[in-house]
Amino acid sequence: MKWIEVNTYEEMSEVAAHIFSKQIQEKPNSILGLATGGSPVGMYKKLVARHQAGHLSCKDVQTFNLDEYVGLEQTSPASYWTFMHKNLFNFVDIQEENIHLPNGKAADLATECLAYDRRIEEAGGIDLQLLGIGVNGHIGFNEPGTSFDSMTNIVELTESTRTENAIYFDDPSGVPTHAITMGIQSIMKAKEIVLIAFGEKKLDAMEKLKSGHVTEDFPASQLLNHPNVTIIYGGTN
Ligand code: F6R
Repeated sequence: MKWIEVNTYEEMSEVAAHIFSKQIQEKPNSILGLATGGSPVGMYKKLVARHQAGHLSCKDVQTFNLDEYVGLEQTSPASYWTFMHKNLFNFVDIQEENIHLPNGKAADLATECLAYDRRIEEAGGIDLQLLGIGVNGHIGFNEPGTSFDSMTNIVELTESTRTENAIYFDDPSGVPTHAITMGIQSIMKAKEIVLIAFGEKKLDAMEKLKSGHVTEDFPASQLLNHPNVTIIYGGTN
């Protein structure tokens, strides 16, 4: 595991954008695993800027997002589909058919989960996976206690995660109770993983990860068993 300590959110975003741009330049048809939330917004802005300056094309890139809420329409303002379009996809030349998120409105959610892992595999597997981390060590929506063997599955969101995510909803009571998430094992299959975490409230999680103790009570700790992980993290401003 490679640790890169940064001083600002801006610097974290720049380092991560550099790794993703390089990946796309070296392999234009890369399969990328993407995340939502506050952590990647700055990196997405930088990828958009590189594209607008003519330095980056995503026309052959395929993306698979980590997760999506169950029960929200794709185009709902709070869906992860909308988040990704507003923060990245609308501003780069990615082809709509190359964008994949789990379908939280699927009639048969169990089948959708299996199909999602299969789609990733058929695409050739994820080359580079972006992750954020929850204060409790969650990655994707895999909360403490999730089996390291888990593949894409339906999860019930904990109260703390629903409260944290309520900022994205006009009505906090509208936060869905369930989501589809790539499992820990689905994430571990990526060839390379970049985890970004910034701010005081993430420092405790960073310390736990650094301690080297691997336990299902702290889902991100399984990353210690992956051969190619970079953690870009830092500070308080
Ligand atoms: C997002 C996701 C989550 C977030 C994590 C950190 O797709 O799967 O695991 O990465 O909750 O969220 P932020 O970046 O908002 O602190």
